[in-house]
Formats: sequence, C-alpha cells, structure tokens
Amino acid sequence: MVHTQDLETGERNAGMYRVQRFDKKTAGLHWQRHKTGAAHFEKAKKLGQKLPVAVTLGGDPATIYSASAPLPPGISEFVFAGFLRKEPVKLVKCLTNDLEVPAEAEIVIEGYADPEEPLTLEGPFGDHTGFYSLADYYPAMHVTAVTMRRNAIYPSTIVGRPPMEDAWLGYATERIFLPLTRLMLPEVVNYHMPPEGIFHNLVFVSIDKQYPGHAMKVGAGMLGLGLMSLAKMIVILDSDVNVEDTSEAWWVTLNNIDPERDIRMLPGPIDVLDHSSRAFSYGSKMIVDATKKWPEEGFTREWPEKIVMSDDIKKLVDEKWERYGIPLD
Ligand SMILES: Cc1cc2nc3c(=O)[nH]c(=O)nc-3n(C[C@H](O)[C@H](O)[C@H](O)COP(=O)(O)O)c2cc1C
Repeated sequence: MVHTQDLETGERNAGMYRVQRFDKKTAGLHWQRHKTGAAHFEKAKKLGQKLPVAVTLGGDPATIYSASAPLPPGISEFVFAGFLRKEPVKLVKCLTNDLEVPAEAEIVIEGYADPEEPLTLEGPFGDHTGFYSLADYYPAMHVTAVTMRRNAIYPSTIVGRPPMEDAWLGYATERIFLPLTRLMLPEVVNYHMPPEGIFHNLVFVSIDKQYPGHAMKVGAGMLGLGLMSLAKMIVILDSDVNVEDTSEAWWVTLNNIDPERDIRMLPGPIDVLDHSSRAFSYGSKMIVDATKKWPEEGFTREWPEKIVMSDDIKKLVDEKWERYGIPLD
C-alpha cells in the first residue's frame, strides 16, 4: 500500500502500486498517471512542496485489498476496508512524516518524493498484461525510516500472463462494485471482465434494454465511471445472457452483430500499460451493441430465438441414461 495525501485538502489515499528498489535509500514509485498517487504528486508539484510517502506491507487482507479497489475520489480506502471487514482500521502515525498508516502493517517504509527532482527510469516489469512493460520515468521515493514487526511477514502476489493471482483480486472488485455501478446505471443487470482482457481491455455488460439506442447509452455511461474510462472494448448484451460465462457472451455477441452497424469507435484515455495505443495513455475504444435489434432501430427482419432444449426432452433423456449404460454419478 502506497500512502499519500492531497497537500491542499488533506484527503488521503492508499494505492496498490509497485515499488522498485533502486538502492538502500531510494525506490521508484510506479503510480500511473490516472491514479490518485500521481494526482497527489502533481498537486505537490503545483504547491512547490515535497510529497510525504509511506509504503506499508502486510496487515489484514481487506485493508491490503482496498488499495487495489477503484474507489471514487474522496472515498477513503480505510473507510472502505472498515466496511468490508466490519471493523474500523486502526491507524498509527509515521515516525518521520505526518502520514497515518494501518497499525496492523508488518513493515512500514517512510519517506518522500520531491517533484523538483528529475524522474527516474523504472522497469521493465513482467506485468499483469502478460507482457514486459517497457521502462518509463517515475518519481523516486527517498526513504527516511523503515520499521517492522519482529519476524515480519513480507506478503507478495504474482502477476504475469493471465490468469494469475490478480485475476481474483479483479474478480472481487468486479463483484463488490456491481451495486455501485448500478447506482449510476440501474439498467445494468451484470458485467464481467474476463482475465484475458486484463480487466479493462474487455467488459461484457448485460442490460435490461428499454428503448432504442439503450445499449450505446450504457456503453457511453460506463466509459464515464472512474477507471472504467480506460476500457478498450465494452460489449453490451441483453439481460438473458450470462456475461460471467465468457464463451456464452462471445457466442451471442458474434451472432448478434452487424459490425458496421453495431460497433462504434471513439478516442479516449487508455491504460498506460497498453503498448498498442498510438500514443502514451491515449488511443481509441470500441462500444459493441450486441443486443437484439428492434424495429425502431431500423431492424425490420425477423430475429430468431436461441435454441433451448425443452424441459420434457431433458427429462426424457435423463430417464434413459441408465439404459444407455451411462450411470448418472
Ligand atoms: C497486484 C497489483 C499491482 C498493481 N500495480 C500497480 C502499479 O504498479 N501502478 C498503478 O498505477 N496501479 C497498479 N495497480 C492497480 C491499482 O492498484 C488500482 O488501479 C487502484 O484502484 C488504484 O487506486 P487509486 O485510485 O487510489 O490510485 C495494481 C493492482 C494490483 C492488484
């Protein structure tokens, strides 16, 4: 957990960002440009001040996880972690700066980043994209103190070609944030980000379609929701599609689309780890309307039903398994 504060408002943030050790007293802070740590650094630069930083390792899993959650600005990771674990997160002040960090942490690394200094080359890194992210320039952290528990536990997670451990962190986020997404877009029934889409590259969304053009409305709306703005492909499906089953989602999508009619491309912000975009963190995205098309949307041909085996046939076959010589268990 990388802890910083907005030096103007005092608002605090904890982000799960990798930290590359350069030497005994300096490390690289890989907060990407769309993340809150980077915003705090920019604010410090504007104010002409050094930014206090603390890195904590360990503690309870809900608190660690909260640093990876895409919380809206202003919502504290500690409040969120308290909600998840049904108990407040106890904080303790650092020794060499004023930041407060989880008291249950195993290791605390304190220091600061100086916006007046030139940035430092960080990486390359075997990333969660499944590719080696190229080295890039990030702020250096100068370490002023390290404290730890006796026999401290150093936790770690492994990323790489998906699916890796972070796929499950991402899946937890997907489930936890579905009700929040539905607060903004109540027509969303469910969504899923398959691990091979490394979260933001592919989002399947099922909706309760109520009017012509509804799919594009939801696609555009999703792109306005926090880090969802980095999504590369958003595919909108009807509510009867189980979007958590990637195979089913693709099957219906590929059957339902007329690419020229149903796909819209638009420019926008792109995850900084994306190596294919035309420029750093800037590129294009795609909204795919894979819902059933309505006459009001100009579709006047007949739309077929999905093949579904009827219950009486399923029952008939089930009754015959023994006779086929295939025992049911
Ligand atoms: C294992 C793991 C490693 C991550 N590493 C980074 C990283 O190095 N840099 C980064 O900007 N985000 C990284 N992330 C994603 C952020 O933790 C995530 O976007 C989070 O919502 C950022 O929080 P913030 O809004 O407080 O910046 C990582 C996530 C996980 C699960």
